[in-house]
Amino acid sequence: MDKIVIEGGYALEGKVQVSGAKNAALPALSACLLTPGTHRLHHIPRLKDVYTIRKIMEKLGVRFTENGDELEVNTDHLDCYEAPYELVKTMRASILLLGPLLARYGRARISLPGGCAIGARPVNLHLKALASMGAELTLEQGYINARCRRLKAAEIFFDIPTVTGTENIMMAAAMASGHTVLRNAAREPEVQDLATMLRKMGAHIQGDGTDTIHIIGVEHLNPATHAIIPDRIEAGTFVIGAAMTGGNVVVEGSRPDHLKAVIEKVRSAGAEIHLTGEGLHVEGPETIHSVDIKTMPFPGFPTDLQAQFMALMCIAQGWSMIRETIFENRFIHVSELRRMGADIEINGSQALVRGKDRLLSAPVMATDLRASASLILAGLVAEGGKTEVHRIYHLDRGYEALEDKFRQLGAHIWREKA
Ligand code: EPU
Repeated sequence: MDKIVIEGGYALEGKVQVSGAKNAALPALSACLLTPGTHRLHHIPRLKDVYTIRKIMEKLGVRFTENGDELEVNTDHLDCYEAPYELVKTMRASILLLGPLLARYGRARISLPGGCAIGARPVNLHLKALASMGAELTLEQGYINARCRRLKAAEIFFDIPTVTGTENIMMAAAMASGHTVLRNAAREPEVQDLATMLRKMGAHIQGDGTDTIHIIGVEHLNPATHAIIPDRIEAGTFVIGAAMTGGNVVVEGSRPDHLKAVIEKVRSAGAEIHLTGEGLHVEGPETIHSVDIKTMPFPGFPTDLQAQFMALMCIAQGWSMIRETIFENRFIHVSELRRMGADIEINGSQALVRGKDRLLSAPVMATDLRASASLILAGLVAEGGKTEVHRIYHLDRGYEALEDKFRQLGAHIWREKA
């Protein structure tokens, strides 16, 4: 198994380009299933999760032609409706195929995703919404078997704003009969990006980016050409890295409007952040101030940057309180950060971080995607030798060539084959 090795103590300097967003690419690929034809998707990141959804879609009969970061997706012939356990168990977002398959074919068989390291992560809200649109759903041998005639519009209230749930139902409703209303919908930029793509396909959607989305179903959609938005979580990881190392970095291609809460918190920690024509220009502070954060649905502080921000707070002056409100088990990085000398106390969904002058290098283990990034950030500033981050297959699920990008910024970081 590969590991990442970091020799800490080098400030990040220079420019780095952000890749397309994983969490926008996955629904965009799923949306291609809604209609036969050839779709063209630009800025598709080269990531394990993207290859996983491609593998499932290939099993369904979809053909892909890759040309740099452009992907042609041909959905003319689908001869299967199943997303198998072997693949779904490695990526829960496979549930995104359910809405489009039902909308186009009236049937789907998708392995029910299990829990994952960060929480139980049920999909009950996706299923309840599809049932209210007329889908018959049964659970057999761990698979959701779904069937319907043409889906019918419904008024859906999500108990919790769910990102993939909102995306799944938006895709299903795009071809349902009638006017669907999604209330308490997720407002994340990835939801908006999907709505933009669906509109290019001919869907009638309004209100994305707010908590009420209106969708008037159409009978047919067309293939589209669409460029995926930049990955705000990758961009935020570079912003935090620049702040931690006292660096000077331009994060190119990032969307400041997708990162307002993060920019505000990293500024409060002492970094100078300017919006330039190229993206975000970040200058790290001499002293990092402690700042409290609470993860919230967009436009709040994203849970997907909580672990990385915690790494920053580990070397801040003073104490900070970090509250995780989205997932019930998203502090698994804490015990690894402690191995590097961090002083963190967990009490339920709150972590009290007492900032230290320095972190120390150590062998550590990645436990999920964003935890991996947090440990790499800690490694960039750790003293006393090399930090080794093991189990980095988690990292490869969602960051495109992260170690190459950090190296390009002057970090001493490399990948070693075990
Ligand atoms: N929830 C339910 N029932 C449901 C759906 C969600 O109870 O049917 C709960 C979840 O357990 C959680 C909350 O609602 O407590 C919000 O979960 P959400 O459904 O929004 O999460 P998701 O759609 O499964 C996406 C991202 C995650 C990101 C979350 C929150 C994708 C593919 N995944 O997950 O990304 O953390 O939204 O913003 O878009 C990551 O990239 O590392 C990652 C985990």
